[in-house]
Amino acid sequence: MMTLKRYLLCFSLIIVTSSFPVFAQLEEADSLPAPRGAELSLFADENELNCLRCHGQMVYTLTDSLAGMTRKQLMSEHNLVVPEMFYNSVHWSFSCLDCHSEGFKTFPHSIEARFETSWGCIDCHGNDPNYAQYRFEEIDAEYQKSVHYTATEGLITCWNCHDPHYYNPLARQTKGGREYILRSNEMCLRCHSNAEVMGLINDENVEIVLPKHEWLPDVDRHLEAVRCIDCHTRMNDSVLVAHEVMPADSAVRGCADCHSQNSILMGTLYKYAAMESRDEKGFVNGVILRNDSYVIGANRSKFISFTGLLIIGMTLAIALMHTFFRIIIKPKQHINE
Ligand code: HEC
Ligand code: HEC
Ligand code: HEC
Ligand code: HEC
Ligand code: HEC
Ligand code: HEC
Ligand code: HEC
Repeated sequence: MMTLKRYLLCFSLIIVTSSFPVFAQLEEADSLPAPRGAELSLFADENELNCLRCHGQMVYTLTDSLAGMTRKQLMSEHNLVVPEMFYNSVHWSFSCLDCHSEGFKTFPHSIEARFETSWGCIDCHGNDPNYAQYRFEEIDAEYQKSVHYTATEGLITCWNCHDPHYYNPLARQTKGGREYILRSNEMCLRCHSNAEVMGLINDENVEIVLPKHEWLPDVDRHLEAVRCIDCHTRMNDSVLVAHEVMPADSAVRGCADCHSQNSILMGTLYKYAAMESRDEKGFVNGVILRNDSYVIGANRSKFISFTGLLIIGMTLAIALMHTFFRIIIKPKQHINE
């Protein structure tokens, strides 16, 4: 009995210690931003009363106070603002009325309210030293050179990619993992994989993008491993996320642009991770030696590193168990005999 317990203890200790580096890595990956949430918002009650009692749920109650009648109505998905997601976005601390006009306090909403002009990001963040790290002015200038601005005469705005109610700077929070790539690409596919949406914006060019990418081997895998903007924006060293989306014929299509030791991805997709590890460990250690992305596609798999560690751990455990039985248990058994 005792020996079995001791052996189990020994075994689990080895497994646990051999997986420490993996856990440390996972923990590092999802370090969270400053606390947010409805409980901390100064405007949560006001927002609920004025707006979210309708916009915050699929089914809301319409009241006619004169006739004393009520009726359940369905909120359209487009007009829904999910409270949990709003209170976890960068603008969580806002009142709805900071961005929307007072006219929306009455329902049915007045025509004047519908003519409100929205603030742009730059109206609040431009030339503000608190947000200097994001370089809003430069992003704005780049954006004005992008095809989205020029092809639509400015009708597509920052808000079409950055949801006004749910926005978070993903690159900084998620450090470039798969989930991040997926969410970043969703921003583009919301329009570009949807012929109906594209048709509404621009009726000459109702194209769906995916067939245009079949020159890539294993397209799906590539589109899960790189962002649309890694191929479609002009490289820019001074902003974290380049915003000048170029016409499609200028996009990256050379395999060696990514699959080489000085991959463009070090200046795009992996920029944030590279910047961080450069600060922590020095450039050579952090970027050249330790970066996961060194020669893309050749040695980059957390799963494989994890199973690799597990296998090493198990092998060690078996070897130790063997020694344990031979040296410690066997002699004991002899004595008992
Ligand atoms: C009684 C329920 C109700 C309340 C309260 C309410 N809304 Fe609405 N709102 C609606 C409905 C229903 C629509 C969609 C139909 C429409 O546009 O009239 C809508 C539409 C909107 C739109 C889209 C307008 C457009 O032109 O497409 C905005 C913006 C909006 N609401 C903001 C607000 C804000 C901000 C508040 C709080 C100050 C608020 N609403 C309060 C029910 C409500
Ligand atoms: C940081 C500014 C900001 C805040 C805060 C904000 N909104 Fe908006 N909202 C916008 C902008 C900008 C648009 C127009 C988006 C567009 O043109 O695509 C919008 C659009 C809407 C719409 C129309 C549907 C849509 O998504 O286009 C509704 C409904 C709405 N807001 C409700 C709310 C409610 C309710 C709140 C409070 C919980 C709120 N908004 C807080 C900026 C904001
Ligand atoms: C009406 C003014 C206003 C507009 C418009 C606005 N912001 Fe903000 N933004 C703020 C304020 C104020 C904060 C700080 C909120 C807080 O944490 O309480 C903020 C916070 C942020 C942060 C977090 C900054 C940090 O380091 O903590 C980011 C990123 C951001 N905004 C991006 C954007 C983007 C992108 C747009 C346009 C799509 C935008 N903002 C539009 C006022 C605005
Ligand atoms: C065509 C889509 C698109 C448009 C339009 C767009 N962005 Fe972005 N933006 C992105 C994508 C994709 C990212 C990367 C995802 C992320 O990190 O949030 C990003 C990231 C950002 C960031 C985070 C950068 C950082 O340093 O963490 C800021 C700030 C930003 N955009 C501001 C703007 C402003 C300001 C505008 C309008 C002038 C704008 N964006 C227009 C797609 C767009
Ligand atoms: C609001 C909808 C919308 C979103 C979101 C959007 N686009 Fe676009 N995109 C358009 C429209 C409209 C055009 C102009 C269509 C045209 O004239 O070919 C366009 C044009 C383009 C072009 C040029 C195509 C050509 O034929 O040269 C590229 C490349 C592109 N978008 C990439 C992206 C990327 C990358 C993202 C995400 C960061 C994105 N788009 C997000 C609507 C959108
Ligand atoms: C590996 C680089 C790469 C990636 C990743 C990539 N593209 Fe492309 N894309 C290209 C190239 C190259 C073309 C030009 C293809 C051609 O003209 O034959 C293109 C074409 C396009 C076009 C023009 C389509 C047309 O009708 O002519 C759009 C829009 C587009 N891509 C959007 C996207 C979106 C959205 C994503 C992300 C889901 C994406 N791209 C990912 C390289 C890429
Ligand atoms: C924008 C950068 C980029 C471009 C351009 C690109 N790739 Fe890739 N490729 C990647 C990344 C990142 C991966 C890693 C995918 C993963 O981890 O699942 C990958 C994976 C692959 C794989 C699978 C490797 C493996 O480990 O199984 C092959 C094969 C491949 N690419 C071939 C190509 C070829 C051929 C081209 C040119 C036609 C090309 N790639 C262009 C970024 C790129």
